[in-house]
Amino acid sequence: MRVGILGSGDVAKSLAAGFIKHGHAVAVGTRDRAKLAGWAAQHPEAQVGSFAEVAQFGELVVLAVKGAVALEALRAAGTANLAGKLVLDATNPIADVTPEGGVLKFFTTLDESLMERLQREFAGARFVKAFNSVGHPLMVNPQLPGGPPTMFICGNDEAAKQTVRGILDQFGWEAADMGKAEAARAIEPLCMLWCIPGLLHNEWAHAFKLLRQQ
Ligand SMILES: NC(=O)c1ccc[n+]([C@@H]2O[C@H](COP(=O)([O-])OP(=O)(O)OC[C@H]3O[C@@H](n4cnc5c(N)ncnc54)[C@H](OP(=O)(O)O)[C@@H]3O)[C@@H](O)[C@H]2O)c1
Repeated sequence: MRVGILGSGDVAKSLAAGFIKHGHAVAVGTRDRAKLAGWAAQHPEAQVGSFAEVAQFGELVVLAVKGAVALEALRAAGTANLAGKLVLDATNPIADVTPEGGVLKFFTTLDESLMERLQREFAGARFVKAFNSVGHPLMVNPQLPGGPPTMFICGNDEAAKQTVRGILDQFGWEAADMGKAEAARAIEPLCMLWCIPGLLHNEWAHAFKLLRQQ
């Protein structure tokens, strides 16, 4: 698959390396190519471009920018470049304020997630929430004593979720489909829970697992 990744941060770089590892063609997008110069030198197989160039390149677009600027980044990517495409949304709506007792604050409410806002504005794109509830070092083929962890996903388009299930399988995760876009109201706050041990005790090496009775 051709994968266009919007973002130059840790998540963008980790997922880009994962897609390259699993044989996909990757382009990474930024407003400032200099930010990716060192990374690009280490990953000569990846292309670097603007948000618009990378969105146009991707059959699949990964959204990996700061949550507060997600709409802005998608507007820069361009509605036409996103039309009909699967947008794998790894963002979290973290507010720029100090956490309280290790609990992050969000700029969204429990009645409307960030992904629903994005899906509403970019109605032609097919958003799937994924990779928002784990730290970037564990995103690709995590080796944990309890076996493959669970990635909670949601989105309105069944075919798009099926594609994301396949990616999660390659990346060493079990997918748990929580339903339509509204489920992002529950999946995005998993990031708050995931971060608490980190913010309180500097423990960041964990992931969620859903256990089911057979
Ligand atoms: N860090 C983690 O382990 C982790 C884990 C799960 C989910 N997440 C979520 O994944 C997303 C990415 O996290 P991150 O830590 O990799 O990076 P980040 O620091 O949250 O975001 C960096 C990205 O945001 C873009 N950005 C900043 N201001 C912008 C603006 N005004 N307009 C357009 N783009 C702008 C930057 O673009 P330029 O390249 O153009 O500067 C850069 O690509 C976040 O939503 C985060 O909550 C993070």
